[in-house]
Amino acid sequence: MNKHSLIPPAKGKLGVLLPGMGAVTSTFIAGVELVKKGLGSPVGSVTQMQAIRLGKRYENRSPLIKDFVPLAPLERLVFGGWDFFSDDMFVAATKAGVLDAAQLAPVRKELEAIRPMSAVYDAAYIKNIRAANPKRGKTKQDLARQVIEDIEAFKRKHGCDRLVMLWCGSTEILPAPAACHEDIDAFERGLQDNDPAIPPSMIYAYAAIKTGTPYGNGAPNLSGDIPALVELAEKSGAPICGKDFKTGQTLMKTTVAPMLKARMLALSGWYSTNILGNRDGEVLDDPGSFRTKELSKMSVLDTILEPELYPELYGKFHHKVRIDYYPPRGDAKEGWDNIDIAGWLGMPMQIKINFLCRDSILAAPIVLDLVLFLDLAKRAGLKGIQEWLSFYFKSPQCREDLKPEHDLFIQHLKLKNTLRLLMGEEVLDHSGLDYYDPEKGLVPSAPPPRPAKKTKKQRAPSSVA
Ligand SMILES: NC(=O)c1ccc[n+]([C@@H]2O[C@H](COP(=O)([O-])OP(=O)(O)OC[C@H]3O[C@@H](n4cnc5c(N)ncnc54)[C@H](O)[C@@H]3O)[C@@H](O)[C@H]2O)c1
Repeated sequence: MNKHSLIPPAKGKLGVLLPGMGAVTSTFIAGVELVKKGLGSPVGSVTQMQAIRLGKRYENRSPLIKDFVPLAPLERLVFGGWDFFSDDMFVAATKAGVLDAAQLAPVRKELEAIRPMSAVYDAAYIKNIRAANPKRGKTKQDLARQVIEDIEAFKRKHGCDRLVMLWCGSTEILPAPAACHEDIDAFERGLQDNDPAIPPSMIYAYAAIKTGTPYGNGAPNLSGDIPALVELAEKSGAPICGKDFKTGQTLMKTTVAPMLKARMLALSGWYSTNILGNRDGEVLDDPGSFRTKELSKMSVLDTILEPELYPELYGKFHHKVRIDYYPPRGDAKEGWDNIDIAGWLGMPMQIKINFLCRDSILAAPIVLDLVLFLDLAKRAGLKGIQEWLSFYFKSPQCREDLKPEHDLFIQHLKLKNTLRLLMGEEVLDHSGLDYYDPEKGLVPSAPPPRPAKKTKKQRAPSSVA
């Protein structure tokens, strides 16, 4: 470990609290338990598998990230969470059908021991699921208090040193922008007054952030991405990040679109369609939840391609996103992209992508990385929005006066440079000039931040650029 780092080591147990214990959560937990037993490999996890280059290229220093930064070891993770369904994690994983019976058998005991706590439910925000045993409370403040009590009881029961919460629940319908989202006093009044603009995911986010627990959001609903909860996170010292795990089609989009722009190839149309048959697909079959997802998926191209800078190349492309619920496929999603591009002298060309992916298999390593990095951020004293974790999200949460960064490669650089910075290592500018002329290649420092204020128009809805 680097001697310049002041980050306290990850001692003791880390409690991982997951609102929403369906396909992604059960695949994540089963995977961690299998890896711990040496029965699986954490493929797709940057924290577990990736190396990071340090210093100059000729120094040949490339430790694994998990050996470079003080992350919690997998053996010290303890899992819990909330759901409308009372299935333990073995039953949930079996029903999700992502991993088969033979894969689940060696970790059956560990999975059966994890049962969801009763959940916060509001039928106005989720149409295709009916909760069997939701929490009861006169006000949303009562419900938030119950979630805080759950958090504290879990910590005591399992002897956790630290906690992290990550929303893996279904995609909620977006609330209309409301005054109670604007600042924390208004939000707490809204909880008391049962303001309809506070969905369940905001109640979990509030409970986590209020207790200083790092909070991430894997779905596209707003949850912690409102000024009131950002303000609370800065006060309570909770690192926060979101929204919507970047897994299948958007991963492809944010990989191919930067290439088109880097090579100044024009775009006239991008048609994306998906079929999926898991419960997430069923929830997204409702137009309200689909709209939330669509906004999250649509925002990426404009931000990457910057039509305002390149009107001739990207001024008028058609972008269409479809998601169809198709039960026979289960979690094995299939995505098609038809990309109409143009090259030299405007000559048209096409790119076709057919990604036969597995939704939860792509999401599980992201959950692991976010849990470990959010815990690292907390120990490093980082609070509020963690933009360096944009790498993992379709709709990255960032300061209100900034555009989100969608380009996967810039996001990756940002993540690795943040780790270097946290550990007192040189931040790499990759210009390479200093190999040839040591006077050159110095990174100028960034200007100081402007006050974080943005207009209502920029804010609503979600972070669509
Ligand atoms: N799998 C992926 O590749 C991927 C990618 C991006 C985003 N996501 C998002 O991650 C989330 C989870 O996906 P999944 O495939 O596990 O879905 P899933 O339907 O299998 O599981 C979601 C679970 O959340 C529960 N839930 C909903 N509202 C809740 C609440 N208020 N409190 C507690 N539990 C609640 C549901 O009962 C369900 O069991 C979804 O929002 C999905 O859109 C998934």
